Amino acid sequence: MRWRATTIAFVIASMQPLMAGAQDAPGKAAYDKNCASCHGPDGAGVAKKAAVLKIDPALLNMGRDEVAKQTKEEKKEITLNGKNKMPAYGKKMAAADVDAVMDYSMSLIAKLRAGK
Ligand code: HEC
Repeated sequence: MRWRATTIAFVIASMQPLMAGAQDAPGKAAYDKNCASCHGPDGAGVAKKAAVLKIDPALLNMGRDEVAKQTKEEKKEITLNGKNKMPAYGKKMAAADVDAVMDYSMSLIAKLRAGK
């Protein structure tokens, strides 16, 4: 039954693009690990965390106007060096991860802004 093996191989081959599409966006894993505890899985911010940090919950919302106006480079600067209660990630994350996380954050910001 040689055709069976061929058919199975063909089915597997044609499924590969679908499987690749189901993979998480680059930067998502590092974002979820390093950023979501404060900024939330969607970037909208975690109110409970803001209460713990004793800050305005709006500061954790990456969809707010001030953040949307910043360039990717400016956001990266803040991520690497920190700002007020925002921790510095320059020594905590690999450089390659930082870029991927910035791109992923920008995609969350775009979604938050579109939802407005
Ligand atoms: C301990 C909580 C905490 C974590 C974790 C955290 N942030 Fe923040 N982040 C903050 C706070 C607080 C601010 C607001 C800073 C301010 O403007 O006072 C902020 C602000 C920002 C801003 C907007 C800068 C601005 O002008 O306010 C960006 C972009 C950002 N964070 C990205 C990230 C990324 C990317 C990660 C993960 C690598 C991350 N943050 C992890 C607390 C956190």
